[in-house]
Amino acid sequence: MASRYIAAAALAAGTALTAFSAQAAGNLNLICSADVVICEQMKEGFEKENDIKVNMVRLSSGETYAKIRAESRNPKTDIWWAGTGDPHLQAASENLTLEYKSPMLDQLQDWAKKQAESAGYKTVGVYAGALGWGYNTDIFKAKGFKEPKCWADLLDPAFKGEIQIANPNSSGTAYTALASLVQIMGEDQAYDYLKKLNANISQYTKSGSAPVKAAARGETAIGIVFMHDAVAQTVEGFPIKSIAPCEGTGYEIGSMSIVKGAKNLDNAKIWYDWALKPEVQSRMKDAKSFQLPSNKNAEIPKEAPRFEDIKLIDYDFKTYGDPAKRKELLERWDREISASAN
Ligand code: G6P
Repeated sequence: MASRYIAAAALAAGTALTAFSAQAAGNLNLICSADVVICEQMKEGFEKENDIKVNMVRLSSGETYAKIRAESRNPKTDIWWAGTGDPHLQAASENLTLEYKSPMLDQLQDWAKKQAESAGYKTVGVYAGALGWGYNTDIFKAKGFKEPKCWADLLDPAFKGEIQIANPNSSGTAYTALASLVQIMGEDQAYDYLKKLNANISQYTKSGSAPVKAAARGETAIGIVFMHDAVAQTVEGFPIKSIAPCEGTGYEIGSMSIVKGAKNLDNAKIWYDWALKPEVQSRMKDAKSFQLPSNKNAEIPKEAPRFEDIKLIDYDFKTYGDPAKRKELLERWDREISASAN
C-alpha cells in the first residue's frame, strides 16, 4: 500500500515536473512582419530545431508597433521578427523593446550592426531591401502604357485607378515610401506629389506587398512595393517587371526586437540568435523571400535586387525612425491624402 502510494506520488510529481518544464522550455509568442510564407517557414524551422512551440501572428510593421505599444503594461508578445526598421527604431526609442547583444552580432553586415548600435541594441538588422514597384507587362501591353521608370512617371493621367500602394499607418513599406519621397523631394513637394498620385491610386492596402500581388493577379497595373516583393511574383511565374525609380529610392533595414517584459525571455533570445544564423538566413530564398541577408556568411539569393544596381538615397534612419517624426508625417498623410481619397 505504502509503496503504491509512493509510486503514485512520484508519478504525480513527474507529471507536474514534465508539465512545468514543457511550459518553461516550451513557448514563444512571435509577431512576424514579413510575408506569411517566410513567416511560416521560420516558425517551422525553429520548432524543428528547438523544443519550443511558436505561436505566430502575421501583422504589418505599423500594426505591430501599435500593438506592442498598446500592450506595454502587459506584453503578450515575446519577439518581433522582421518588418521595416523604422517602427522597430520607434519602439526602441519608446523603450518598448529590450536591449540584447547577441553573440551573433560580429557576423553581421555593418548596416545591421549600425541599426543595433543606433538603438542601444534594442533592435538589430535581419535583412535589407530597396523600394520600387512592379508592373504587369500583360496589362501594359493590352492598354498601350509606357513603362514608368521614375516616380514622376507614376503621375501620368493614363494610370488613373491603375496603381496600388499600402497605407503608411499600417504598413512599413508605405511608411518607407512616404519617408523616402520626403527625403528625395522635400516635405511639401512630397505631399504635393502624393496628392497628385492619389488620383491614380485605386486602393491603399493594409499590407505592404499586397499591391504587387494584386498586380500579379491582373487586378491592378502597378504596385508600389519593395523590389524583392515584385521579383518574388516574377519568380512565381507572373508577368511582373520590377523597377528601381530613376530619381533614387529609399530602402529598409528589416529588423528584429525582443519585447520588454517578454514572458518567455530565454526563448526569445534563442530565436534571436537562431534568426541571425547564416544557414537560417540562406534558407529565406526557399520561401521566395529575396532580401539581402544581414549575416555576412549567408548566401545572397541570385534573384535579390542588388544595392549596387539601384540609385539609393542615404536614408536617414535616425530622423524617420523617430516616434515624433512618424506621428507628424502620418497625421499629415491622414489629413491631406487619406481624407481626399474618400
Ligand atoms: C514584405 C517585405 C519585407 C518587408 C515587409 C513589411 O513582407 O518582403 O521585406 O519588411 O513587407 O511589411 P508591411 O506590411 O509592414 O509593409
